[in-house]
Amino acid sequence: MNQPLYAVPAEWAARAHVDAKGYGARHAESLADSAGFWQREAQIVDWMTPFTTVDESCFDEAGFGIRWFGDGELNVSANCLDRHLATLGDTPAILWEGDDPADTRTISYRELHADVCRFANILKAQGVRKGDRVTLYMPMIPEAAMAMLACTRIGAIHSIVFGGFSPEALAGRIQDCDSTLVITADEGLRCGKTIPLKANVDAALTNCPSVERVIVVRRTGNPVAMQPGRDIWYHEARDGVSDDCVPEPMNAEDPLFLLYTSGSTGKPKGVVHTTGGYLVWAAMTHKYVFDYRPGEVFWCTADIGWVTGHSYVVYGPLANGATTLMFEGVPNHPDFGRFWDICDRWGVNIFYTAPTALRALMREGDAWVTRASRQSLRLLGSVGEPINSEAWEWYHRVVGDHRCPIVDTYWQTETGGTLMSPLPGATALKPGSAAVPMFGIEPVLVDAEGQVLEGVADGNLCIARSWPGQMRTVWNDHARFFQTYFTTYPGRYFTGDGCRRDDDGYYWITGRVDDVINVSGHRMGTAEVESALVAHPKVAEAAVVGCPHPIKGQGIYAYVTLNAGEDGDDALRAELVKWVRREIGPIATPDVIQFAPGLPKTRSGKIMRRILRKIAENEVDSLGDISTLADPSVVAALVEARGAPS
Ligand code: PRX
Repeated sequence: MNQPLYAVPAEWAARAHVDAKGYGARHAESLADSAGFWQREAQIVDWMTPFTTVDESCFDEAGFGIRWFGDGELNVSANCLDRHLATLGDTPAILWEGDDPADTRTISYRELHADVCRFANILKAQGVRKGDRVTLYMPMIPEAAMAMLACTRIGAIHSIVFGGFSPEALAGRIQDCDSTLVITADEGLRCGKTIPLKANVDAALTNCPSVERVIVVRRTGNPVAMQPGRDIWYHEARDGVSDDCVPEPMNAEDPLFLLYTSGSTGKPKGVVHTTGGYLVWAAMTHKYVFDYRPGEVFWCTADIGWVTGHSYVVYGPLANGATTLMFEGVPNHPDFGRFWDICDRWGVNIFYTAPTALRALMREGDAWVTRASRQSLRLLGSVGEPINSEAWEWYHRVVGDHRCPIVDTYWQTETGGTLMSPLPGATALKPGSAAVPMFGIEPVLVDAEGQVLEGVADGNLCIARSWPGQMRTVWNDHARFFQTYFTTYPGRYFTGDGCRRDDDGYYWITGRVDDVINVSGHRMGTAEVESALVAHPKVAEAAVVGCPHPIKGQGIYAYVTLNAGEDGDDALRAELVKWVRREIGPIATPDVIQFAPGLPKTRSGKIMRRILRKIAENEVDSLGDISTLADPSVVAALVEARGAPS
C-alpha cells in the first residue's frame, strides 16, 4: 500500500500524553496485565466505592456476560460536574452556538451544576426514580445536556431519539423501553426553519401508554399545544426548585443509557451502556485520542441523538473538565464557512466531524475555509465512516494548514467510544486508515469460516476480548445481544465490518459486510427501509441496498416490486420517498427507487442481495454466478432499468 505517511510532528512527540514508545508499551501492558492496567486507568473517574474486581466478562455461551468494575460505585454527573467545581467552577463547561450565529450562550461548570441539580429535582418531583426510562427528543441546546446529566444524577436511564426521526420511529423507541417521561422542546431550528418537535411527540404519544409526563423546553417560543395533566413547561417547573441534589451512588453495572441503533435484521435495538465502564472508556479515549489538555476548547459536531454526541459532546469532555462546544446548526447555514467561523469565534482547539460534512464542504471551494484564520486549531478528527483520501488530504492541507494531525476514529454505538485511531503524538498517519487499536483492544481478522488471519490480511473484524466501554445487552433481549454479536464467530465480538491490516500493522476499515448501510455517517438497516416500503398499499415487495454516493458515502437504493396492476411512474416514486420519510424520518430518504417487476431469488425464495448490490454499484460485469436463480432473466431486466442517485 503506497499511501503517504505523515510522520508525528516533533513537538507532538515531545508533548503529547502518549508517544510512540509509550503507546507500544501501554498497549502491550493493557493486554498482558489487563487487571493492573485498568486498576490504574479507571482512576480517571472518581469512585464513591472503589471496585475490587476488574474484568469479569465472558464471550462464550456458557458463562456469557460483560461486566467491569462490578462492585464499584460512582455517579456520572458528579464526575462530570461536582468534582470540577473547586478548580473549574468559573470555567466554561458548555459553549453554545445556535442555528443563528448571533444566538450564543456560555455556561460555566458552576452554572451547569446548578441547572443539572434543578433539572434532577424536577424529574424527581415528577416521580422519576432510579432505573426508570426517560426519552429525550431534543434539539441541540444546552438543556439537552442538562437533561442527560440530570438523569444520571438520580439514576434514571436516558434514551435519546434523534430529532430527525419521525413520530412513528419515536413511538417505537418509547414503547420498546416503556419510558414514563419524555423531554422535548416546543420546536427545533434548522437553517432558520422550525422542526415541530412537540407536535411530533404528541403524534407519537397517541400510541405510548407508558408515558405519564412530558417536559417541554421553550426554544423558539412559538405556540404549541399543551395537554393538561401531562405536559409541563420546563421554565415553569424550574421556578423555585432547589439547586441542591445529592448524586445517587450507582453500581458500575447499573444501566446509564439506552440508544437505539439499526442492525441487519428486525427493529432497531436498544443498546445498553452501563455506568462505570462506559464513563471510564469515554473519558480515557477522549483524553488520549484527542490528546486533550486542560483549558482547551473541544468541538464535536455530532448531534446528541447519536452515540458520538453522547461520548464526545457530553460525557468524555465533561468528565475530563473540558470546555465542550455545542452547535445547533448545520455547516452550510448561513454559508459554507460556518464551521471555520465558529472555530475562530470560540477559539476551538480540537475539531471532530464526519467525512460526509467534509466532502460537502470541499466541493464548495477553499475560500470558505481560508477566510477564517483557524489559528486556534491543534488537532482534527474524523468519525462515522471511512474517509476517502481526497477528503482526508483536503482536511489536512486546507483546514489544518498541514499543521494539525488527523485522528480517524473507528468505533460503533455498541463500543461506547473509540476502538481504533491514531494517537496524535504516537502514530504516523496514513490517510484513510484508523491505524491502531486503543488500549485494551485486541483486534482479530477472520475469514468467512472464522479462521484467524495473521499478518497482512483482509477479513472480518472481530475483537477478541471485552473492554470497559462495550455494550452490555440489548434492552429486554439479552438473547438477541448474544445472537447478534457473538455467534457468527464464537468466542469473539463481531463488529460487522470488513477490515484490512497492512504490512505496518495498520488497520483499514473497508465498510459493513452485513445488511447495514452507512448514509452520511448514519447507520441504517436496509430491513427497516424495506419494511417501511412494503407497508405502502401499492408495494408488493422491496429490497434495499447501499450505492456509492459522492457526498453521503452511501446512498439508499431501493428495488420495489408493485402489486399487480400498479404503474411505476415518477409520481409514485415521489410518493414512496415521502412515505419512507414519514415512516422513519428524512435520514432514510431513498436516493434511487427502481421499479422491479421481479427480484433475483434463489429457488428457495431468498433474495440474492449480492446481485442487487452489484447492480446498484454499477458493477454489472461482475455479477458472479446467477445460474442458481429461480429465474435468471430478471437480472438482465434489472440491469437494463438501473437508476442513478441524483
Ligand atoms: O462501519 C463502521 C462505521 O460506522 C459503523 C458504526 O456506526 P454507528 O454505530 O452509527 O457509530 C458511528 C459513530 C461511532 C461502524 O460499524 N464507522 C464508524 N467510524 C468509522 C467507520 N468506518 C470507517 N472509519 C471510521 N472511522
